[in-house]
Amino acid sequence: MSCFQMATSLFLLAAMMLGGSNAQLSPTFYAKTCPNVSSIVRSVLQQAQQNDIWIFPKIVRLHFHDCFVNGCDASLLLNGTDSEQMAPPNLSTEGYAVIGDIKTALEKACPRVVSCADILALSAQVSVSLGGGPTWKVPLGRRDSLSAHREGTGGIPSAHDSLANIAARFKSVGLDSTDLVALSGVHTFGRAQCAAFTDRLYNFNNVSGKIDPTLNATYAKALQQRCPKGGDATSLIDLDEQTSLTFDNKYFLNLQNRRGLLQSDQELFSTNGAETVAIVNRFASSQSQFFASFGKAMIKMGNINPLTGSNGEIRLDCRKIN
Ligand code: HEM
Ligand SMILES: *[C@@H]1O[C@H](CO)[C@@H](O)[C@H](O)[C@H]1NC(C)=O
Ligand SMILES: *[C@@H]1O[C@H](CO)[C@@H](O)[C@H](O)[C@H]1NC(C)=O
Ligand SMILES: *[C@@H]1O[C@H](CO)[C@@H](O)[C@H](O)[C@H]1NC(C)=O
Ligand SMILES: *[C@@H]1O[C@H](CO)[C@@H](O)[C@H](O)[C@H]1NC(C)=O
Ligand SMILES: *[C@@H]1O[C@H](CO)[C@@H](O)[C@H](O)[C@H]1NC(C)=O
Repeated sequence: MSCFQMATSLFLLAAMMLGGSNAQLSPTFYAKTCPNVSSIVRSVLQQAQQNDIWIFPKIVRLHFHDCFVNGCDASLLLNGTDSEQMAPPNLSTEGYAVIGDIKTALEKACPRVVSCADILALSAQVSVSLGGGPTWKVPLGRRDSLSAHREGTGGIPSAHDSLANIAARFKSVGLDSTDLVALSGVHTFGRAQCAAFTDRLYNFNNVSGKIDPTLNATYAKALQQRCPKGGDATSLIDLDEQTSLTFDNKYFLNLQNRRGLLQSDQELFSTNGAETVAIVNRFASSQSQFFASFGKAMIKMGNINPLTGSNGEIRLDCRKIN
């Protein structure tokens, strides 16, 4: 071995050690052990969409709620008494049965091979692209946690947090402002319960009768009709009033018109001096820039603290440890 080769291998070894577990995620992780994994995920999701036109956004949200609690380790899917699913701010997370159907199909095709954490990451990508959004190569090779982390669900941002607070939470897991704006753009599809935003219509900042001043007045009126005071707080309202079944960049045009549904959405555009404003404008004028940034941000989010190597396990049933 030459000096140069030795230095190179020492450097590589150090890089691997410093790179930690992320180093092992790879888009071709199942190339030999489950080559058809993507098309199986896709076909189950397409089937599921026949019964529930809203299934794609539901599935994408699960990956977010998984990754923000102790990393992308499928801890969200455990359904025991300490389940993360039962802790606030779950507000109607759904789609767990479809994840179970995907797992069943994969156990048939390649038993004991594909982790539940990878199923969440892959099905998020497939759901976005079937919804009309971008495609990206999902790094794979995550393993599943041996426990849930119910106490960690407080780390999932709330729609009522300030932009500074949300940005700080994202930063603490390696996601910058561009990632935050791009990932928030996922609210271009799906729905929210009235409960997630009615304070903006009736008692903003706890002032009785006050409407959020950043809310478009005509939109506020329309929302008051859909979510009347004292009405059903679980009624579902489109996150993107124009095209809530489609993954596109209309969300950012909505923000420019003060028509973002959640306070956390509108803050990205309406917070004076925030660096997110220019990013919203950029994505509003270029869907392709939004799509490219979204794919990159999803890969970064999917890289949060995965279990790899011999850590964790490959669950046989995503709802319980083996
Ligand atoms: C930036 C911080 C975020 C906040 C404060 C937030 C908050 C919320 C809230 C309150 C809802 C409505 C839930 C309900 O009422 O049922 C929602 C829906 C949703 N969120 Fe987020 N979210 C954030 C980021 C994300 C990210 C990063 C993703 C995924 C990459 C995501 C995916 C979704 C999806 C797809 C829905 C619609 C779910 C459905 O239609 O069932 N969110 N979000
Ligand atoms: C892969 O999966 C798809 C969808 O389930 C199926 O149509 C196709 O025949 C499968 N291919 C192989 C090689 O198993
Ligand atoms: C969400 O958590 C509440 C308790 O905070 C629980 O009653 C509800 O069933 C949970 N929702 C889901 C979908 O698990
Ligand atoms: C509004 O009032 C409730 C009850 O008094 C309190 O728990 C909550 O923190 C207040 N919210 C804000 C934004 O001040
Ligand atoms: C309110 O929404 C309408 C319709 O999108 C738009 O034309 C108007 O400019 C918006 N107002 C503000 C202040 O953004
Ligand atoms: C949790 O999952 C088990 C299978 O592991 C299932 O039998 C049970 O009904 C589930 N419980 C809930 C509350 O979903």
